[in-house]
Amino acid sequence: MIGEGIEGTERVLSPGKGRGLRALKEFKVGDLVFACPAYTYVLTANERGGFCEFCFTRQEGLSKCGKCKQAYYCNVDCQKGDWPMHKLECSAMCSYGENWNPSETVRLVARIIVKKKMHPERTESERLLALREFESHLEKLDNEKNEMNQTDIAALRHFYSRHLDFPENAALNELFAGVNCNGFTIEDEELSHLGSAVFPDVALMNHSCSPNVIVTYKGTVAEVRAIQDISPGEEIFNSYIDLLYPTEDRNERLIDSYFFTCDCKECTTKSKDKAKMEIQKTLSTPPKQKEIQKMVKYAKNVIEEFRRAKHYKTPSELLEICELSLEKMGSIFEETNVYMLHMMYQAMGVCLYMQDWDGAMRYGEKIVKPYSVHYPPYSLNVASMYLKLGRLYLGLEKKSLGVKALNKALAIMEVAHGKDHHYVAEVKKEIEEQK
Ligand SMILES: C[S@@+](CC[C@H](N)C(=O)[O-])C[C@H]1O[C@@H](n2cnc3c(N)ncnc32)[C@H](O)[C@@H]1O
Ligand SMILES: [Zn+2]
Ligand SMILES: [Zn+2]
Ligand SMILES: [Zn+2]
Repeated sequence: MIGEGIEGTERVLSPGKGRGLRALKEFKVGDLVFACPAYTYVLTANERGGFCEFCFTRQEGLSKCGKCKQAYYCNVDCQKGDWPMHKLECSAMCSYGENWNPSETVRLVARIIVKKKMHPERTESERLLALREFESHLEKLDNEKNEMNQTDIAALRHFYSRHLDFPENAALNELFAGVNCNGFTIEDEELSHLGSAVFPDVALMNHSCSPNVIVTYKGTVAEVRAIQDISPGEEIFNSYIDLLYPTEDRNERLIDSYFFTCDCKECTTKSKDKAKMEIQKTLSTPPKQKEIQKMVKYAKNVIEEFRRAKHYKTPSELLEICELSLEKMGSIFEETNVYMLHMMYQAMGVCLYMQDWDGAMRYGEKIVKPYSVHYPPYSLNVASMYLKLGRLYLGLEKKSLGVKALNKALAIMEVAHGKDHHYVAEVKKEIEEQK
């Protein structure tokens, strides 16, 4: 019930971290700590047609909106349920045509404005933290971030003017800043991006690089499960970022997006940094520190170059960037080095896109073991890698390798997603079909 908090947890002040969530009872690995329906959410434009816009069910043969022919639904109930949100975009998508291109954050914020109006009281997604309480770090935004918010505000006014009464500029700026710091992205079991959402109670949790819970999604509901045993009185932490990278990289990302430096056990001991930065052991003369630093700088540049190139280069040009950078970095980095793994992961993605299953499998095979070392136990990154690899093996009729990989994915997913999740049932069925 709203107003009664979340059983087994409490909202607290966490020294140096603002507000946070604390356990009042014991949670064992795999226990559901709480679930939180989305306050509001939006399906990513790329996945239209494959998922119901309202309930995020993945299935074939969804029916499309007769007006815009762009939104797809399970049935009339889902279409009706979605109309208060979809009507913001339905006619606008038709009239703007190709020129309709608001960012996903803008689309989400438009929905927040509607939701606030439709439901001004506290919602069932705000049992412990209300959306209006979101930390926005407004005073810390630099010029670049302020300009980005202004661009988003301009797009919001441009694409949504017909259906929305806008708050004034200052309030909009704070709303965008709050969403940037507290928003979530929804991914499927292979970590493909499905959409964006706000889950206020989930946003109450602070970050740790050695998190004791993981967030997964069942449709548009977020579920928080323990991945370490949690004792009464302990703070509950999830991870905000990809934990593959060394301490310095993680903290660059945390400062840039969330305005804090992490003081968790991993960040103080840096126990995994050496393995994450593994240097070739077979070299006759080990590289100097300066050379290593230079290569790290190169790696970071390539990562950024690739991120931009994805929007306009062809798959074979992208593969070339990966292969060339792997060759160059391979002169001093081991294949288990996270910068090597990053580029192999990108290469695998391109191979999958090109339906080069053999190529994707070869990259996947190199990635999956070091991933299990670098990531914490029960990582969604590791589970999804085993899942992709297992499905590739089965597609290539490598039955026993496929079943083995799927079982590895399953072991993690049963804890992270819970034994009764439909993703778990699907993987079990894929394994069963091989018997
Ligand atoms: C999603 S909010 C989490 C709830 C937040 N503490 C609050 O009071 O609203 C993210 C913000 O919490 C703070 N935070 C989260 N994890 C932290 C950590 N490990 N150390 C310091 N601050 C942290 C940062 O200010 C960050 O921008
Ligand atoms: Zn539906
Ligand atoms: Zn429509
Ligand atoms: Zn940390």
